[in-house]
Amino acid sequence: MSQAHRHRTPADQPDTSTITVDAYGERLMSTSPPASTRYVASHVSKAFNGAPVLHDVSAVLEPGEVHSLVGENGAGKSTLFKIMSGLYRPDAGELALGGERLADLTPRGALQKGVYLVPQEPTLMAHLSAAENLYVGALPHRRMPFIVDWSRIHREAATYFERVGLDIDVETPARQLSIAQQQLLECARALVHNCRVIMFDEPTSPLTSHETEILFDLMRVLRGEGLALGFISHRLDEVFEVSDHLTVLRDGRMVASAGRDEITRDQLVTAMIGRPIGVRTRVRRTSDVTDRREVLKVEGLSSRPTFEDVSFVLTKHEVAGLAGLVGSGRTEIAETIFGLRKADHGEVWLDGEPLEHRTPRRCIDAGLVYLPEDRGRNGIFSDVDLARNVTAGIVPRLPLRWHLISTAREEAVARDSAARTSVRAASLGASISTLSGGNQQRAMFSRWLLAEPRVAIFDEPTRGVDIGAKDDIYDIISDLATSGLACLIISSDLEELALTCDRVLVIYEGRIVGEVRDEDVTTARLGELVVGGGRG
Ligand SMILES: Nc1ncnc2c1ncn2[C@@H]1O[C@H](COP(=O)(O)OP(=O)(O)OP(=O)(O)O)[C@@H](O)[C@H]1O
Ligand SMILES: [Mg+2]
Repeated sequence: MSQAHRHRTPADQPDTSTITVDAYGERLMSTSPPASTRYVASHVSKAFNGAPVLHDVSAVLEPGEVHSLVGENGAGKSTLFKIMSGLYRPDAGELALGGERLADLTPRGALQKGVYLVPQEPTLMAHLSAAENLYVGALPHRRMPFIVDWSRIHREAATYFERVGLDIDVETPARQLSIAQQQLLECARALVHNCRVIMFDEPTSPLTSHETEILFDLMRVLRGEGLALGFISHRLDEVFEVSDHLTVLRDGRMVASAGRDEITRDQLVTAMIGRPIGVRTRVRRTSDVTDRREVLKVEGLSSRPTFEDVSFVLTKHEVAGLAGLVGSGRTEIAETIFGLRKADHGEVWLDGEPLEHRTPRRCIDAGLVYLPEDRGRNGIFSDVDLARNVTAGIVPRLPLRWHLISTAREEAVARDSAARTSVRAASLGASISTLSGGNQQRAMFSRWLLAEPRVAIFDEPTRGVDIGAKDDIYDIISDLATSGLACLIISSDLEELALTCDRVLVIYEGRIVGEVRDEDVTTARLGELVVGGGRG
């Protein structure tokens, strides 16, 4: 481990022996009257291509409760919720809603029964508006069939968006929405369908604490109305804040299940990954760095109305952060620097040379890489395998054999890089879309490590990554900075910024409104600034 992050490991090994699966089995069998929305998955097993993913897992979503699934990347959380929402068929086990057995469940059937899954990766139609996306499959008609009631759609969409804290024009095309906005739109969809059971698969991973609180308030209201809610998150503070019941999956098996007050954080972590992880602390890294050459300079960059007059420099060995609310312009700034978007003013300089007519290819060749927050749209090549997704950033530099890319050597390169972030996949030839969300994220991170950049912009580098692997990524970033990389981290997770950054720029409504450095980089201070507290 590098010197940047150390763990305070609890002196005493937490005792998880009191939280047994057997106790949960009793709860499952309990004779409490079947409430209409009690949703039971019992003894569910599932394998893909012969590889077991879930083994004899049971969970009950009780009406008026939030039940969270926690576990490492690839533990089987999404698979369980996909089975419960009819996307996958279980190999064994049963589903029952309000005492009624649901055999051969399909997504459509699940929706008809009032069961809805907010998916881990948003599935919006890019060319349709936000309002249209909200009602896909549920368009309200006028009294005449076939005539869609657009005025009603727009009116109602605005109300739903407000309930989930989504602050956009209802006619915005979905392709213009950030990943966080897409995620909130997915949450709003759950409300449109008026469901009794809603499962949220990592809805908060792109959200700041501000948007997360709005979503949690909504979840509490829904819980109060007697809905049964499922929730997945890698942020354990959130899990403890919002859950009534917790179930831990490890390698597809249920290893603990307990009421929120019956399990501690240490017990939960130990159940998840087999060892305790203390609270992370930060050790200042860059105090002894002398070479502070300017590597990236951004001057007066604007793309109105999204952001305006953004100027900053990044020096060698520096880890800087960019904090701001969803919609503040963080990602658009990064996309404009990297040539994914056009600037209407301003310049970008790399090592003292202007970087003009920017395209991603030119930027990569010049030594500037960007890990996008929306890997579905700007990162993953979903129709090719893991190996080729990892090497995609360095294709011109791959080892050749008879003028052709040597497949064996390409795979060796990919294997080494994927190993650095511990990507877990069946094989290098596995289609990237079959990897769990967190493992896809690790693969994207490996891609940019391979490119050996001089400047890296990482937008939500640990989105969906489990707590064990997060530390590995923080250590890699810190080691890269030590060896000279200039790095800009954009993150909704203020704790992540506080742990990794030497300096954080705060953006509010498209303008840089503050900067904190060194000892002042704390979650509390950043929290004040991101909501506009630093202005004036
Ligand atoms: N369609 C599929 N085909 C093959 N394997 C799959 C498929 N879907 C999931 N898997 C595998 O099942 C395992 C569990 O995946 P799942 O998505 O349920 O994990 P998860 O707990 O949600 O992880 P994460 O926290 O990373 O989202 C992984 O090893 C994954 O590669
Ligand atoms: Mg998942």
